Amino acid sequence: MSSAKKSYQRVTTHSLIQMKKDGEKIAMLTSYDFTFAGLVDGAGVDVILVGDSASNVIAGHETTLPITLDQMIYHASSVVRAAKRALVVVDLPFGAYQADSREALKSAIRIMKESGAHAVKLEGGIQVKPSIERILQAGIPVMGHLGLTPQSIYKFGTYTVRAKQEAEAAQLLADTKMLEELGCFGIVLEKIPANLAKQATQSVKIPIIGIGAGSQVDGQVLVLHDMLGMNKEFSPRFLRRYADLDKVIHNAVEQYTKDVKSRDFPNEKEQY
Ligand code: KIV
Repeated sequence: MSSAKKSYQRVTTHSLIQMKKDGEKIAMLTSYDFTFAGLVDGAGVDVILVGDSASNVIAGHETTLPITLDQMIYHASSVVRAAKRALVVVDLPFGAYQADSREALKSAIRIMKESGAHAVKLEGGIQVKPSIERILQAGIPVMGHLGLTPQSIYKFGTYTVRAKQEAEAAQLLADTKMLEELGCFGIVLEKIPANLAKQATQSVKIPIIGIGAGSQVDGQVLVLHDMLGMNKEFSPRFLRRYADLDKVIHNAVEQYTKDVKSRDFPNEKEQY
């Protein structure tokens, strides 16, 4: 395995599979708007996920369930306008694909047509097989998502680590193989034991992207606002903070407010 990094003009689903072959780790981050997506893309991330975590970090909901297909399309189209190199993957939101496979295909087509994104992601294994098959048959690339699947939070009851028990671990491995056989181009594994994630990764040729799934996977994904330190209430063990934007933004806004109140801003040079 070589760790040499090829340069990709535009990352595609095929380049991701090639990166796994070459042993090059895949960097994926979420974005929900034009400005952040431009920064993330410009800094060289391989995949931008327009996650339904927008429901939490942008809209302030407690779960990912309330966000709608229209809202996801709005976020996705803003991100697509900014992304010059990264592959843009968009979450199918809760309620847009579970009812039946026709509904799932209609939702996926709306995302692709109205936002210009490159692929969709959806949560679940065997229970959403017909939807995945139908979307793939229409030529739309699909990324799977197994382990902790936040759209099922009311079934799980907690955001704790999944697949610690043998039966759930075996199902996850079976679902991983099934998603590969169906033709998914990659899978997100969220919050599962590192050893299980390693086993899943070694069992397939498509890239496995982990979040709270250890280091023996093909790539990592984090929620942008969490890794930038904008969301101090959320501190799971797997989260590494790369900046303290909460503090930077707080200090900047506090200083601006003081300057306005004290008549320091604007000064003579800052007026016409
Ligand atoms: O919605 C999201 O941000 C996600 C990631 C946590 C993988 O699905």
